[in-house]
Amino acid sequence: MCGIIGVLGDHEVAPLLVETLKRLEYRGYDSAGIATVNNGVLDRRRATGKLVNLSDLLVHNPLAGKAGIGHTRWATHGAATTGNAHPHSCGPVTVVHNGIIENFRELRAMLANHGLTPSTETDTETVAMLAAHHMAQGMTAREAVKATVAALHGAFALLFLFQGQEDLMIAARKGSPLAIGYGKGEMFVGSDAIALAPMTDRVTYLEEGDIAFVTRSGVEIIDENHAHANRDIVRIEASATLIDKRGHKHFMTKEIHEQPTVVAEALGRYAPSGLPSFPDRLDFTQIDRVVMVACGTGYYSCLTAKYWFEQVAGIPCEVDVASEFRYREPPVTPRTLALFVSQSGETADTLAALRYMKDKAAIVASLVNVGTSSIAREADLALAILAGIEVSVASTKAYTNQLTILALLAVHAARQRGHISDAAARAHVIDLMGLPDLMRQALALEPQIARIAEDLAPAPSILFLGRGVMYPTALEAALKLKELSYIHAEAYASGELKHGPIALIDRTLPVVVFAPHDRLFEKTVSNMQEVLARHGLVTLITDATGAALASEGTAAQLILPTASELCAPILYALPAQLIAYHAAMAKGTDIDQPRNLAKSVTVE
Ligand code: G6P
Repeated sequence: MCGIIGVLGDHEVAPLLVETLKRLEYRGYDSAGIATVNNGVLDRRRATGKLVNLSDLLVHNPLAGKAGIGHTRWATHGAATTGNAHPHSCGPVTVVHNGIIENFRELRAMLANHGLTPSTETDTETVAMLAAHHMAQGMTAREAVKATVAALHGAFALLFLFQGQEDLMIAARKGSPLAIGYGKGEMFVGSDAIALAPMTDRVTYLEEGDIAFVTRSGVEIIDENHAHANRDIVRIEASATLIDKRGHKHFMTKEIHEQPTVVAEALGRYAPSGLPSFPDRLDFTQIDRVVMVACGTGYYSCLTAKYWFEQVAGIPCEVDVASEFRYREPPVTPRTLALFVSQSGETADTLAALRYMKDKAAIVASLVNVGTSSIAREADLALAILAGIEVSVASTKAYTNQLTILALLAVHAARQRGHISDAAARAHVIDLMGLPDLMRQALALEPQIARIAEDLAPAPSILFLGRGVMYPTALEAALKLKELSYIHAEAYASGELKHGPIALIDRTLPVVVFAPHDRLFEKTVSNMQEVLARHGLVTLITDATGAALASEGTAAQLILPTASELCAPILYALPAQLIAYHAAMAKGTDIDQPRNLAKSVTVE
């Protein structure tokens, strides 16, 4: 979601702030702004829409100063207008914010008693007002920020800059990450390492409750009890600096094509010698039940894994979306493995669900792509997704790596519980080792998939069907299509078709059926026949055997290489992604940053 950058530099900062915000575009935003302090005077520029609007504004109306903060906003409180864009200012204070201040209405009411009224619809402005109010009462900037942060409820990352102070930024973290970057005589604050990577490779990640007082000569950090805190300086992984499209038109297509490579890396890490290998703490002889929780695409990887945990390992498995799970307050039996799956590791609902399970489950594990994230750090055990940085808002390579690792984990559980022999476990691993090659073969079909997508793109609505592990694949295909092309799409377990959605079928509704020739093939094909009998326009995605048996009457077929039940949902994700990508190309939508979406959803 919102991106934050702050610089205490020795050159004009406005160009650097805008350039850095560009690197944060991937998080999703709908307006942007920067503020500087120059000759003691605070000033700001803000613009709605893409960053180019802010850059244009700065050409006509430049902003001088060597100390500045910047922000990309994803609207929560108040529409995406210039007035609601950050930084928000009041008196000597300006602030940028990621997250939500839950008690801003109460704070506004309190401030109104002191004659301070807001001029925006945002919760963030209240933070600037409260800090300004404290300074008006005689507090220093440091004291004012401490008092302000203590009064705030919610989850946030805040970065303050002050009138008359060109060598001070104050950062506060509660719920949303912030990193301090060290330069030579310069200091930086960023909402993630990607923001800071071009300026420095040495960063300190703030802990929950930390407040950091940053000057050009260094940083002083206090913890939630306002005690002095020592935080490590870590080197940012080299991969954090590798943010380019490598000749691809979009990050999404680059990331789709990286899948064979990153899946191979995951297989190498989690099955280095032909058998699944996970940390000893994941002892499935001590586990009777698996509970998996995630949001969005991660939820669909969990739904797929449910089939594997139950069928391959014979272990009961429940899956829930985090926003429902956290308020359902489900009872937890002691021998439960709670597994939280998240690409970003910062999704607010997933983090809250993890905290709910913390002292209830036997072990709380996470499967996360960002190793320094809150969900990775707060779990008893964090498994790395190893997909490399994913920039496109719509998740692709993180999804297939989640699936690959979860497949190995299910095989590991089956073996540890004596549900399958070592030889059977080895056979599953050998099967999964074939995935990179199968994926390359599927990617080679891209021109054909693009034609299918172009034919589908004019439709106002599309239905996806699948059974068993192909049901979550259908759900993911519908989600991807919605996210990228804004075409309405729904997915059903094909057995559910006749319980309602069949009423939609006519000559105009495209129906995409995922049907590898597996043990459920005949059943899926029967449902497909029900669509064809009502003149529905079927695209059949199957393998050679399936195509030979069931192509008749379909409008289009895509023939993928033959894959096992463990590999099929990972392989069939690729045409799902490519259909969404090429439908979006045909519609001319913003592929890497679809409207209204954010990469890292740090508010509930
Ligand atoms: C957002 C993204 C989705 C993602 C979901 C969960 O909605 O747009 O692509 O699947 O968050 O994110 P996570 O980082 O927890 O996997």
